[in-house]
Amino acid sequence: MPRIRALEPADAPAFQAFVRALSAETRRERFLGAVHELGPGMLRQLTQAASPEHCALVAISEGAIIAESRYALDEDGASGEIALVVAESWRRLGLGGRLLDAIVACAARAGLARLRGEVFRTNVAMQALVRKAGFELRSHPRDARLAEIDLRLAPRSLLKSAIELTGNPLQEPASLNQS
Ligand SMILES: CC(C)(COP(=O)(O)OP(=O)(O)OC[C@H]1O[C@@H](n2cnc3c(N)ncnc32)[C@H](O)[C@@H]1OP(=O)(O)O)[C@@H](O)C(=O)NCCC(=O)NCCS
Repeated sequence: MPRIRALEPADAPAFQAFVRALSAETRRERFLGAVHELGPGMLRQLTQAASPEHCALVAISEGAIIAESRYALDEDGASGEIALVVAESWRRLGLGGRLLDAIVACAARAGLARLRGEVFRTNVAMQALVRKAGFELRSHPRDARLAEIDLRLAPRSLLKSAIELTGNPLQEPASLNQS
């Protein structure tokens, strides 16, 4: 079973190798454009240490990165933009769902009010996955090729009472690991 953990700056070479090994179509779906590999600035940005502005998680199998999920805080400081990708050979095994749940938990714990994102309208897999997770989907107001996805998160006070009631604390990324 792949292990899920926080992405760290030291992962930069492994993360670049992961992106390079994806198919052109998967990179297009993940980055919403033609990306072959990450330039130095983008690689640094995507592998920076976790902060209140972002959370990035990776799934690891036999030392290699096989999937990634993340959010980056929007300028409004209340919502975050998510991204998610699973290597082709690891699809339909529940990994995308696990990484999506984990990044939603990260955002909720950080007190975000919303998670949002943009996906190609042709991206049936991502749309089905996020719909199952409770996201709303709607047309993009400015780009007919895209759909917007949106999930409202419970206010921090509600989460706190839910945790107190259920005794089921949201897990830290480090403890999401399953070997
Ligand atoms: C979208 C993506 C992350 C799904 O990853 P995954 O690990 O295959 O997803 P899961 O195995 O957790 O699938 C969970 C559910 O999502 C839905 N789903 C996933 N792939 C699907 C597909 N190709 N067609 C229809 N439904 C699909 C199904 O309901 C599935 O449940 P099921 O397998 O029990 O039927 C993966 O296809 C991917 O990396 N795509 C390219 C990157 C991308 O599009 N990113 C989005 C923009 S950032």
